[in-house]
Amino acid sequence: MKNISLAIDGPASSGKSTVAKLLAKEFQFIYTDTGAMYRSLTYLAITHHVTFDDEAGLVDLIKKYPISFKQTEEGQLVFVDGKDVTDAIRQPEVTNAVSEVSAHAKVREEMVALQQTIAENGGVVMDGRDIGTAVLPNAEVKIFLVASVTERAERRYKENLEKGIATDFETLKKEIQQRDYIDSTREVSPLTQADDAVRIDTTGMSIDKVVDAIHQIIKEKGYL
Ligand code: DC
Repeated sequence: MKNISLAIDGPASSGKSTVAKLLAKEFQFIYTDTGAMYRSLTYLAITHHVTFDDEAGLVDLIKKYPISFKQTEEGQLVFVDGKDVTDAIRQPEVTNAVSEVSAHAKVREEMVALQQTIAENGGVVMDGRDIGTAVLPNAEVKIFLVASVTERAERRYKENLEKGIATDFETLKKEIQQRDYIDSTREVSPLTQADDAVRIDTTGMSIDKVVDAIHQIIKEKGYL
């Protein structure tokens, strides 16, 4: 496998991170979950009492508390402010505020710069909302994953159950729609498909099928 960059974008719970992790493991690439970075910042804002509309305060938090990832047997762990926040950043309190935090231009500028540094030598699988359009516009392979809102809410519902987080299905569906809306309509690098990205609708598709479809795309482009 060549040392390429693979950009995987799509709305909430479209299966990006599951697929990205599998591909990164297979190719021995660095996996970067950019959503986890915006989630970590949201967690910092809550714990350091910075309000979600305080753009300068949020930027200060990014500069003061570096976010890091650690690969382990059990998966990727996320650390910030000296703490393992892997589970904390998936709590509804963070999930419901992250779109507001990530909409600020200066917050995105800082995060995009960090993400570009991580990817500067290639050999990465990066997932998010703006990877193909803003973070890695020259990525060799760009994938845009979509799925119906109902299926995405079902996936999130099951994930939450496994983590012991109690949620109501209809509420979850509304929250996903709300997050889609904010992520897609924000002024700075909204969630949009890059012109050269390949769109895959994963509704009713197993994870293996999605991974197979991406293999096929990488092969067709001559990188596998
Ligand atoms: O992928 P996720 O659900 O963990 O992402 C959490 C939020 O972070 C998402 O609602 C929007 C924001 N995000 C973003 O604005 N840009 C990215 N590249 C990744 C995530």
